[in-house]
Amino acid sequence: MSTIPILATDPNDFVVFSDPAYVEVGVTDFLGKISFTVPTLLQGQKGCGKTEGVRQMCASRGFLRVSFSCTEETRVSDLLGSFILIGNNVHYQYGALAQAMALSEYGPTVLVLEEVNALTPQVQKTLNPLTDGERGLYIPKLQRVIKGNPDHLWVVATQNPGYAGTYSLNPDLKSRFQVIPVPYMTEAQEVAVLRRHAADAGVTEDRIITGLVRLARDTRGVRDGKSLGYALSTRDITYAVRLAAKLPLPSVILTLAHKMEDPEEFRDFAARAKSVFSEVNLTQEKTLW
Ligand SMILES: Nc1ncnc2c1ncn2[C@@H]1O[C@H](COP(=O)(O)OP(=O)(O)OP(=O)(O)O)[C@@H](O)[C@H]1O
Ligand SMILES: [Mg+2]
Repeated sequence: MSTIPILATDPNDFVVFSDPAYVEVGVTDFLGKISFTVPTLLQGQKGCGKTEGVRQMCASRGFLRVSFSCTEETRVSDLLGSFILIGNNVHYQYGALAQAMALSEYGPTVLVLEEVNALTPQVQKTLNPLTDGERGLYIPKLQRVIKGNPDHLWVVATQNPGYAGTYSLNPDLKSRFQVIPVPYMTEAQEVAVLRRHAADAGVTEDRIITGLVRLARDTRGVRDGKSLGYALSTRDITYAVRLAAKLPLPSVILTLAHKMEDPEEFRDFAARAKSVFSEVNLTQEKTLW
C-alpha cells in the first residue's frame, strides 16, 4: 500500500450554479428523465446546447460535476492522476476520473467528458472501468483502489459527429454508452433562448432576434442546391445578439459572415443575410471600424 499522501478533492469545488440566461430546452428535460448511472453519449453539432444542458441539469438537481475537455494530447495521467512535488514532498493529485470516483462517495456526481472522441484509442481504454459501474478505480501508480459509489456516478460524454481530425470511439467503449442525438433546438426554443440573451444584454428589437434565428436555420439547410461549409450554431447567434447591444446590425452580421471560409460561400451567406435583413449589404471588403 502506498504511503504517498493524496491531495484532497473538495466537493465544494465541483458544485454547479445555474445560469440566469438559461432556458429549459429538450436536452435538459430529457437528461432529467433518463436513469442516472447509464453512461450517456450526447452527440450533436457544435454549439447546439450539450454542455449547457448538462451543466443546468447538474445545477438544478444538485449534482456535483467534474468537467474534462478531452484532446489528442490527453494522457492516462490526466485522467487517473500524477505525482506532484509540493516543497520537498511528493503528493498524488487525482485526475478527472479519479476525482469523479472519489466525489461519488459524497453524493451524485456527473463526470462530463467533453469531445470524448478526441481521445486516442489507447487512452479511451482508461474509461472502461468507470463505464462498467465498478465500485472502485484502480490507480496503477499508487497500486491502490479509489473507492466510489457507482450508484452516484454518471459518465456523460459529448461529441460532434464526423469531424476530421478526431478519432472515433473504440467499439468496446461505444458499446458501454447509450447514444443520445442532440438536434438543434426548435425555432421556438431558439427564439426563446435568444430573447433571454437579448434581454440580458439590453437588446430590445425583436426582429433582430427572430431574424438571427431565421438566418441560422437558413445556413443549416440547402439553398439553390448549395449548402454552406459552416452552419451557424445556437452559440453563434447568442454571441451575435449580445454583440448587437454594442454594434449596428450590419456589423454584427459581418462578424458572422466571416465564419465562411471562401469568397463564394461568403457571397452565398450575404445573399441569405440580405433576404432576412434587407438593410444588410455585405462585402468582404467591409470592415468594422
Ligand atoms: N438552453 C439554453 N439557454 C440559453 N442559452 C443556451 C442554451 N443552450 C445553449 N445556449 C447558448 O449556446 C452556447 C453553446 O451551447 P453549448 O456550449 O452547450 O454547446 P455544445 O453543444 O456543448 O457545443 P460544442 O459541441 O461546441 O461544445 C452557450 O454558451 C449558450 O450561450
Ligand atoms: Mg460543449
